[in-house]
Amino acid sequence: MNFENILVELKENLAVITINRPAKLNALNKNTIAELHDAFKALDLNTSVKAIIITGSGEKAFVAGADISEFANYSIEEGTELARKGQELLFDFVQNLSTPVIAAVNGFALGGGLELAMAAHFRIASTNAKMGLPEVSLGLIPGYGGTQRLPQLVGKGKAMEMIMTAGMISAEEAKEWGLVNYVVEQEELLPLCEKLASKIIRNSSTAIAAAIKAINANYTNCINGFAVEIEQFGVSFNTNDFEEGTTAFLEKRKPNFE
Ligand code: COA
Repeated sequence: MNFENILVELKENLAVITINRPAKLNALNKNTIAELHDAFKALDLNTSVKAIIITGSGEKAFVAGADISEFANYSIEEGTELARKGQELLFDFVQNLSTPVIAAVNGFALGGGLELAMAAHFRIASTNAKMGLPEVSLGLIPGYGGTQRLPQLVGKGKAMEMIMTAGMISAEEAKEWGLVNYVVEQEELLPLCEKLASKIIRNSSTAIAAAIKAINANYTNCINGFAVEIEQFGVSFNTNDFEEGTTAFLEKRKPNFE
């Protein structure tokens, strides 16, 4: 896969996507969002890819937000379309991907950068990372799902504080607040993400996809998450992975999933 603004590396069952605009602190312009959509879509369709890590190039930024230079003169209609299209192509797309996505937050994750990290299934940060939703300092509000996903992760009060103050929190604070799962030195960030990915890869991808669906259902309006869990649990019984997983357990051997 050849892209202008992102790099995609395949390591057996693991894919690493690196947003590669370091001179602009990996800010998300339209082209980068379109390329990320294409990359996530292709990797999700590739059945040999069982986990995806998303990170930023350089040592300073994961993503410093949506590209401000692109929307500075937008009208109401253009602004609405920017948020709608971005959510559809990238942020909701990543959240609902069947393949697990880990965000390796290697520096600034601001605005759309934090929103992208929050759309991933979970997040690991390096000690230098700083996170925030500074949109109100630009006369805007978060438009890529930040007003919805941040309260889900840190609670309403903390989300209100972060969004209203437009401030940044440290990696340690983010961990304390439940926004990231672990904080490690920058050189240990990708190795830790790869270690977690290797644990994920050992399990049934079919079952993981069903679990993602059921967990996400809890955060989708008008959908009963318990009902989705019952449905997905039932569907699991008709999969080859279920047959292999239970047979391997009874035969006291490791499963060999599809
Ligand atoms: N959109 C477009 N360009 C951006 C950007 C963004 N969100 N964030 C950084 N850049 C660009 C800068 O314009 C600069 O480009 P230039 O060298 O051509 O002038 C380059 O990236 C380096 O950024 P700079 O501001 O010089 O780095 P810094 O170390 O002084 O500050 C930040 C780092 C992250 C604090 C600062 O870049 C910043 O506040 N960025 C915007 C964050 C934001 O508001 N995001 C939400 C957008 S909705």
